[in-house]
Formats: sequence, C-alpha cells, structure tokens
Amino acid sequence: MLAGKKILIGITGAIAAYKICTLIRLFKKNHAEVKVIVTPNALNFVTKTTLETLSQNPIYVNQFDIDEYKPEHIALTDEADIFVIAPASANTIAKLANGICDNLLTSVFCAFNKKILIAPCMNTNMWENPAVNQNISILKSRGIQVIEPETGFLACGSEGKGRLADVNIIFEETKNILIPDKFLQGKKIVITAGGTKEDIDAVRYIGNYSSGKMGTALADSVSELGASTVLITTVDVNKNYKVIKVKTAEEMYNAVNQEFLDADTLIMSAAVSDYKVKNKQTQKIKKNGNSLTLELVENPDILKEMSAQKKDEQIVVGFCAESENLIENAKEKIIKKGCDFICANDISRKDTGFSSDYNELFIIDKNLNIEKIEKTDKKTAALKIIERIYGKSN
Ligand code: CTP
Repeated sequence: MLAGKKILIGITGAIAAYKICTLIRLFKKNHAEVKVIVTPNALNFVTKTTLETLSQNPIYVNQFDIDEYKPEHIALTDEADIFVIAPASANTIAKLANGICDNLLTSVFCAFNKKILIAPCMNTNMWENPAVNQNISILKSRGIQVIEPETGFLACGSEGKGRLADVNIIFEETKNILIPDKFLQGKKIVITAGGTKEDIDAVRYIGNYSSGKMGTALADSVSELGASTVLITTVDVNKNYKVIKVKTAEEMYNAVNQEFLDADTLIMSAAVSDYKVKNKQTQKIKKNGNSLTLELVENPDILKEMSAQKKDEQIVVGFCAESENLIENAKEKIIKKGCDFICANDISRKDTGFSSDYNELFIIDKNLNIEKIEKTDKKTAALKIIERIYGKSN
C-alpha cells in the first residue's frame, strides 16, 4: 500500500516510545521505507538495536554521526515524504514551536518543508499546561498536523488526557496524507488566482497586492485530490495541470467564460480589478506640470456573471477581502453576487491574507451559515475550503 513512500519517524523521550516499534512494523508491512531519528532521551525508553532491526536502517541520533557530503539533517529532509514525530514530548514540542535546533530531530523539523505529523504524549497536567497549549496552537497554525493524545490510564499512574494516540490511528493519518482519498476524480475545477493589472500606458498599470498564493494552493490541492484542474492566473507558475496566464480582468473573464462551460466548480480567488482605464495610452504618458485625470470604466464582474449563468449542479465560490465589518460585508456580497459559497478574509491583518503564507477565513454558504477556518498555512486552508464545499468537513 505504501510502496515507494519514504517515512521519517522522530522519537522523543517519552514512555510511549516503545509503541513506535509497532508503528514501524505497520509501515514496513505496507512496504514503506522507514528511517528513524531519536533524541538522546528516547534511547532511555527504546533501544537502538530494536529500532534498527525493525526499520532495517541505521538510527540517527546526532547531527555529526555520519560522514556524508550533505549535512545529515538536510539529507534526511530531502529524502522523506513525511515526518512523523511520535511520541512528541512537551519539551520537544516547545522547541519545535520556537525554532530551536539543539539536536538532530529538532534541526530536521526546522528544515523539513513537507507534511509533518506530531503525536504528543505526556502527563495530563503537562498537556493542560498553558505553555504546552500555546505551543500546540502555534504548531497547528503553521500547518503541522497534531494527532491529539487519548484519555485513559497513564504510565505515571493517573488517569486523564495525555496517552499517545493509538498507533493504528497514527498509521491511518500518515497513510491518508501519503495516499489521499482522490474524491475529486472526474471533476473539472477552475480556479482563478492573483491580481489583475489594468494598463494606464506603456509602462504603468493599476494593480493590487494579491500574491496568488491562495488560488495556487487551492489549485494544487484540487489537483492532488484528483480533479482535472485549470488555474487562470496573473502569476507565473509552472505546474503539472493546465495553467492559463492572463493579465487584465477582461482576459480573465474570457478564460473563465470558456473554461467554466464544462466545469463542475469555479473558485474565484483572484483579486479582480473593478475598473479599467477608459483610454489607455500606447505610449508612456509624459508629465507636463498639470494634474492628470484618468477616466475609469467598470470591468465585468466575473463572479456575478458566472453565478447568474451557472447550471444547477455547478458550484461557484467567491472570495471577499474586506478591511472592515468582515462578516456583514461577506453576507451582503454572497447575496449580491449569487454564488454558492464565499470565503471571507480580513485584509486589515498583517499576519494573514494577501501576501502572507497564512490565512484565516470564514466560509459562508447560501443560507448564511458560517464556518471559521482558524489561522493556518494556505495549503491547509485550501484543503479545508475544498472539504467544506464538497461536504467532507469533520
Ligand atoms: N470579482 C470578480 N470580478 C470583478 C470583481 C471581483 O469576479 N470585477 C470576484 C473576486 O474574484 C472575488 C469576489 O468577486 O471572488 C469579491 O471580490 P471583492 O473585490 O471583494 O468584491 P467586489 O465585487 O469588487 O466588491 P467591492 O470592491 O465593492 O467590495
């Protein structure tokens, strides 16, 4: 099932370290390649020989153990498809949340740019400690998937939340990430991204700060979930799905109009210029000491038009970027535009939205039900939007 997948496991110093032997067996039985990093403290709970025998690979403890051309933490990062840290102790979680790289495991975490799963394990009081709580929230907001500990009898003799999640659950979560359920197979999804540019003259334009990151994350996600994907974008990207590069709102309108005809879903995440210059100049406008007045005329409202002409089974999703009264404006906008969902974000915040790698969104449906997506990286936000649209939420 996991043939060809490379799983990196990180074990920290917690009593449940011994359970990871079963997890390694599960991965190996499913034909995954497994490499294991341990913190020095983990070796108090499980032996190197056991882990080596089960994983059929050397065990990595220190950064300078192996003499290779590449620093070990980078080599391990490059190779692996996923990093599963289980059990994750409160101490390691604190280091991960704060970017501390004082051993091989924490250094690999810092360098790892693919999916990371952590399964905490600790005493109930520690789990409920506000510092641990905050560290977990920080990691979640950075897109780290946390498999919550279970409630039950703990090794320290007490009962409560803190026991490592069942290894079968850790296995299933890892498998679902490595082999996602391609529930969008057979669907065509059109997504717009970036900010349109309207020429003023040969060298100037009216534009906006949209980076295209949210739309691109959405397109990446739907493509990974099996959809035939079309990204209509103002940004240069190189993808293994269809990309149509456009500049102006009108070019975007024409491309959407064409692609939406046989599509199942349209997601308008682009920031489309509402106006264009009436008489754009082909030459550079020279200053002449006087003020300059540009006459602007309205662009087509792509979202509104597509919502009006869509067939019943087609889904249209809009975005709305607001600097004040987010929810009220978003509710007004979904009614005005006639789309099925609107994803609202607050552009007055500096830590999310427009050029940021993070987003916090509210998804509002036609019946004005609201679902909040807490601040997270744009790829995770994209996945949550898609799950909401297709009724896959929790
Ligand atoms: N949109 C569009 N065509 C336009 C303007 C916007 O399709 N000419 C889409 C955007 O892609 C987005 C949604 O409409 O999905 C809302 O965009 P926004 O700029 O927030 O709304 P506007 O309609 O421009 O309203 P206003 O600027 O008055 O807030």
